[in-house]
Amino acid sequence: MSTGSPRLLPADSGIAEAASVLRAGGLVAFPTETVYGLGANALDAQAAARIFAAKARPSFDPLISHLADAADLPALVGAVPPAVAALVERFWPGPLTLIVDRPAVIPPIVTSGLDTMAVRVPDEPAARALIAAAGVPVAAPSANRFGQLSPTRAEHVVAGLGDAVDVVLDGGPTRCGIESTIVDARGERPVVLRLGALPVESLVEAIGPVEVRAGSSGQPVAPGTLAAHYAPRTPLRLAGTAEEPGGGGRRGFLAFRERPVAGGWAAVEVLSPDGDLTAAAARLFDALHRLDATGVTEIVAEPVPEVGVGRAINDRLRRAAATWH
Ligand code: TXA
Ligand code: MG
Repeated sequence: MSTGSPRLLPADSGIAEAASVLRAGGLVAFPTETVYGLGANALDAQAAARIFAAKARPSFDPLISHLADAADLPALVGAVPPAVAALVERFWPGPLTLIVDRPAVIPPIVTSGLDTMAVRVPDEPAARALIAAAGVPVAAPSANRFGQLSPTRAEHVVAGLGDAVDVVLDGGPTRCGIESTIVDARGERPVVLRLGALPVESLVEAIGPVEVRAGSSGQPVAPGTLAAHYAPRTPLRLAGTAEEPGGGGRRGFLAFRERPVAGGWAAVEVLSPDGDLTAAAARLFDALHRLDATGVTEIVAEPVPEVGVGRAINDRLRRAAATWH
């Protein structure tokens, strides 16, 4: 367990210092457009090992490597299949992670021994400036302890990881609020391995039909798609129709656009009064962090429309609920 606090630096003026910590093998949490990442030099096996220790992350769960610019991809991995190149062209920088062959310079610990690697260019100036200043690819999972809620604010990182991380770059709340979409586009038909901030509809529009394998049961392809994940500390379940408030205990309600008509909830969070799914995604983890902090005994979460980024929101809610079966 950590005892102290990490160094908290502003995302603009703290870049140079944070980059030197990365180059020295340290851990830097930094904002991306999706969630905060816990970064280490992806070329340094020992630095990558510290990520697994800080997160208490199982060694079988591979990391995503982050680049400053799409132009850095060929230098790292060489030529990529045409569909992968098309997605890079269309969606980077952005919340899309792609699977490519692991180059020899990336130590196997980063990919948990897989001969493939996950890579993306985040659409967040501070993240790209940090990676560019470090001059190396940056391996970064979400900056939370394994299985817990993802961090969308620097405060979430500090509360969750403490001084297990050396530096936290504070860039305020993240824009998307939900992790990147992961796609393996190396084969005949591209496969979505994790639903995320880039909607499936946008992928289909760009490259035609895709297979969505995220959320299927059995052996997970992307271990972050384990059935139970992204969980608050408080037991969470999905709301049924005509959810009854009260019934003993202090319960919290996570609503999509309207506060529940019947009162009696100890705490209510509304994701988007306008019914905007993008806004709802941006608030999802923050709202769950807040409900957790109220000390309610159960969180009841209302699913959102199963369209666009709403599919990723429902995916995270289902996994959080599965943790509490
Ligand atoms: O938005 C994001 O993707 C954030 C920010 C920081 O970039 N990162 C993130 O990382 O969500 P993490 O570690 O929480 O999730 C990474 C996911 C895991 O589900 C992991 O199993 C999968 O990526 N993954 C990594 N390498 C893989 C590979 N070679 N093949 C399949 N899945 C892979
Ligand atoms: Mg994660």
